[in-house]
Amino acid sequence: MNLAPLDGLVLRTPRLELRLGTREELFSLGSLAEAGIHPPDEMPFAVAWTDGIGQPDFVANVVEYNESTLRAWEPRNWTLNLLVLEGGEICGSQGMSGVDFADERTVSTGSWLGRRWQGRGYGTEMRAAVLELAFRGLGAEAAISGAIVGNEASRRVSEKLGYRLVGTSSVAPRGDPVDHYDFRIERARWSSPVEVEIEGLEPCLPLFGLP
Ligand SMILES: CC(C)(COP(=O)(O)OP(=O)(O)OC[C@H]1O[C@@H](n2cnc3c(N)ncnc32)[C@H](O)[C@@H]1OP(=O)(O)O)[C@@H](O)C(=O)NCCC(=O)NCCS
Repeated sequence: MNLAPLDGLVLRTPRLELRLGTREELFSLGSLAEAGIHPPDEMPFAVAWTDGIGQPDFVANVVEYNESTLRAWEPRNWTLNLLVLEGGEICGSQGMSGVDFADERTVSTGSWLGRRWQGRGYGTEMRAAVLELAFRGLGAEAAISGAIVGNEASRRVSEKLGYRLVGTSSVAPRGDPVDHYDFRIERARWSSPVEVEIEGLEPCLPLFGLP
């Protein structure tokens, strides 16, 4: 599948730029993750990928994860992992996925920032960027997200952006089950708190299963 159009897709918020990364940038992203996203005794992710920090192939695995999602891309089943940059510096990753998107019109998201970039409102701004892509750009009807109970920053980002708590579920990133909040926002409730510029979407639409 020719994914070249995705290289031209750029989202811009007042402070951030979101786009695919080059291989070299993905190595930088891996190094940023390796430098720390959360305290080692906590695990905010449903998949405990950051427990690999300290292993020799950790950075290469982050690169591989990002590249494998592109290799697996299908218009019915896609995951777009965008680099998040502030002033040209890589500060984190914002992902968005769609399964049977053309029919279901629902996206799910996941994200992280390097520790020194957290707590400045960037998490809210980058989620708003992909929600604008979803609702305004791709005609999504709903977006879902989740947060492990106790992950106040992630929960607050969802709440601030208008998601509703629709249930709880259980995940077990480190083996023992932990509670997980399930959030959802419908198109009618969405209003972006920041302006988002979407560049280069038109040639990408077929890749998202859209006409
Ligand atoms: C989750 C994450 C992406 C949020 O990004 P962020 O830039 O730190 O968040 P923001 O600054 O946009 O906003 C966070 C909100 O949570 C609040 N918050 C942050 N930490 C908090 C804490 N420990 N307790 C209570 N509220 C907290 C902030 O005050 C803010 O709410 P407010 O505007 O009402 O004050 C980021 O913190 C992160 O990468 N965390 C580690 C990885 C992670 O948890 N990823 C998500 C997995 S589901």
